This record gives sequence, C-alpha cells and structure tokens, in this order.
Amino acid sequence: MEVRVAAKAGFCFGVKRAIEIAMATVRNMAGPIYSLGPLIHNSQVVEYLAAKGIREIKSIEGIDVGTLIIRSHGVGPALLETARAKGLNIVDATCPFVRRAQVLARDLIEKGYQVVVVGDRDHPEVKGIVDWTRGRATVIENPAEAALIKKESKIGVVAQTTQPLENFESVLKVLSETGAEMKVCNTICNATAERQQAALDLARQADVMIVVGGANSANTRKLADICRESGTPTYHIETAGELDPVWFRGAKIAGLTAGASTPDWIIEEVKNRMSEIEEMNCQEEGMKEAMEVKAVRHGQIVKGTVVH
Ligand code: F3S
Repeated sequence: MEVRVAAKAGFCFGVKRAIEIAMATVRNMAGPIYSLGPLIHNSQVVEYLAAKGIREIKSIEGIDVGTLIIRSHGVGPALLETARAKGLNIVDATCPFVRRAQVLARDLIEKGYQVVVVGDRDHPEVKGIVDWTRGRATVIENPAEAALIKKESKIGVVAQTTQPLENFESVLKVLSETGAEMKVCNTICNATAERQQAALDLARQADVMIVVGGANSANTRKLADICRESGTPTYHIETAGELDPVWFRGAKIAGLTAGASTPDWIIEEVKNRMSEIEEMNCQEEGMKEAMEVKAVRHGQIVKGTVVH
C-alpha cells in the first residue's frame, strides 16, 4: 500500500501566523495570557499552548489584567473596545484575509448597502464580520435563504473566508434576481479551495482516505465530506491512535489530508502510523498465505491429493 499525502494539507497561512504570534507573545509578555475561545480548532495544539501558559477563556468578563490574544477568526469592534477599556493588552492574530472581509463589510454598510454575509451564522468569524457592521448585516447560508431576503435597492455581499465557491455563486445568482444594485466582494480564501481540490484529487485516486483534524473544525469536516462524496471510504480522525488497521485491508493507495488547523507533526505521526499498519497488514497477509499453504499441504497428506 502506498501512502499519498494531498498536495495541499494542514496549517493554512492564517493559522500558522496565529500560532507564531501566540508563541512570540508567550516569549515576550509577562502576566497572564488569554485566548478568547480555542486559538485554533485542534485540541492537541490547544493543549500544547495551554502548557506554554495560554489560557482559553469563554468571555472577558472578570478578566482585568493581562494579554488577550485575538484568534485568526477575529472579533467585532465592541469586544476590542471593552477589552481596551479594561486595560487589557491586545495581541491581534486575526487572519489578514478575515480582516479584509471585516473592513469590506464595515465600508459597505457605511456606503448605504444592505450587507449580506454568505456563511455559517454560528461561526465565530461570521459573528465577528457582522459585528463590524454593528449587527446590521444579514447572514445567508444558502440559496434558499437568499430567496427570502427583504427587497433592498443596494446589496453588498461578502463571504465567510471558508465558504465553498459554488454556494457563494448560487447565493449571488438568487440575490441578483432581486434587481438590486449589487456590490460583490469575493472574500473567500484560496487556502480552503486549494485544500478541498487537493483532497478531492487524491480521494479519486485512493482506495481509502484519512482526514486528520479537530472534531470541532468545520474545514476538516468539510474535507471529509468532499472525500466521502467522491465515493472513497473516508475516516476523520484527530490523532494517529485512532487509525484502525482494518480500514486499510486490500487498499493499494491510502490518501491522507488534513484540515487547516492540523499541525505538521500530527500529519507526520499519522503518516508514520499508516506505514506501520501497512507493514503489519503485509506480515499478517504473509502469515495467512503461509498457513494456507501449510493447510493445503496438510490436506494433501490427509486426503492424498497432489499439489503442484
Ligand atoms: Fe486565513 Fe484562509 Fe486560513 S482566511 S485563517 S488563511 S483558511
């Protein structure tokens, strides 16, 4: 069995940058360091950062001293203002691509557009973008929701950075049918599309696909869905320990991809474990064959049949 890794897999630019910023903060800042929510959607990395002294908090209520790291998803201006007013030191690790979506949404609302954010309304990135419009943007998840939008004269559209392009385009098509003047800002980040395309390309060649990443990582789940939809048996795992040798029986090519919040060391561990499993399965296969030959020979003696 050959183990192939997708051409694009693992940490994206924004996540890598956020981790680097967090590590630099640990090195350079005294006092407690907090991250509002998990810095990235990967519990192994979050545990590692916690060991380095970065404490995850759900809210800044009751936090009056120290440094607050803003994760790559970004936050709204109200939270930043509150944190600054409390005297917290802010380290902003918002991904520049998310920041671009925030600024565009804010500018569109200031120019009198009804702002539509195409994305998942429960995702922190989308909530942050909406906050930059002071809560006036409408979130649309799919074309069916777009069809229900109130008639507006001017609609400005931005996308959650991880939106699939097809969904964004389908929503735009429905919105354009309202006859409103449209200003479209495609804020989809290439990293997501590249990882999805690479996963699909590999899934089409592979007999089995392994997708590594946090169970709570939306982009990893999406990668697993794409691989599954290609018809290839697909397993979403967080660590190498979850791999089951049975998944690889009879497979000639095993594909491996990982979400944007999966570090290289976890990908490497999974890859090594897959190679070990391959060796184990080969040995088992060899033993099975040897036992079969032995059984046939034994049968030959008992039954007196001839085997060439
Ligand atoms: Fe940024 Fe794109 Fe990653 S928006 S956080 S580089 S998926």
